[in-house]
Amino acid sequence: MKECLKLITERRSITFFDPTRDIPDETIKEILEISATAPSGYNLQPWEVIVVKDKEKKKQLKEICYGQQKVEDASANIVLIANTKAGFEHVDRVLDSWIDLGYIPAENRDTLRERILEGWKDKEKAKRKAIRDTALFGMTIMIVARAYGLETHPMEGFDETLLKEFLNIDKEKIVPMILAIGYKDPTKKLLPRAYRFKFEEFGRIV
Ligand SMILES: Cc1cc2nc3c(=O)[nH]c(=O)nc-3n(C[C@H](O)[C@H](O)[C@H](O)COP(=O)(O)O)c2cc1C
Repeated sequence: MKECLKLITERRSITFFDPTRDIPDETIKEILEISATAPSGYNLQPWEVIVVKDKEKKKQLKEICYGQQKVEDASANIVLIANTKAGFEHVDRVLDSWIDLGYIPAENRDTLRERILEGWKDKEKAKRKAIRDTALFGMTIMIVARAYGLETHPMEGFDETLLKEFLNIDKEKIVPMILAIGYKDPTKKLLPRAYRFKFEEFGRIV
């Protein structure tokens, strides 16, 4: 319990990564698969990722991220993509697995399929669903990375049009954030964590 809370409360957005450190592809894949246990509406998992690890590509990505040096220094950058068509693309696999696992009887398939897809027909609703679930996936990655001794930095500072061209991402998909991931430069000290609102400022119990 204590360890788990430390992973969360001691997470910081790391500005200074050690540019000499690599993360093996297998470790990145493991972190992403563990993080994909994150919940999503109807388990549709509307996320995709492109991991930018190549030195030259990181330099190009830095320019798209308005020169943020951490993009080049991090071992990798995880480009999180919200697939706004995931409802239609994933629904059958989700339903098949639910039937196989005994969640629903096979005769309920068509009715449930229709109900699930209803929520994805409206483009604005589909965007919201895809972004919401992808953001939960992103947060999970940041915590799982810490369990592996790694640090992250979420970024919204990038030109999405250029990014989509650079990585050949479908125009209808959305990139809610990029996560730089790597090892903190041990010679650099972070400023203390900035102010967080207290419960009374952001919540109420009714
Ligand atoms: C979705 C998202 C986008 C962010 N984009 C950037 C960014 O482009 N550049 C940056 O330096 N920090 C960015 N941040 C980091 C925040 O500034 C940081 O999380 C916040 O100041 C709190 O600091 P902490 O994460 O160390 O607690 C982003 C954070 C989030 C969650």
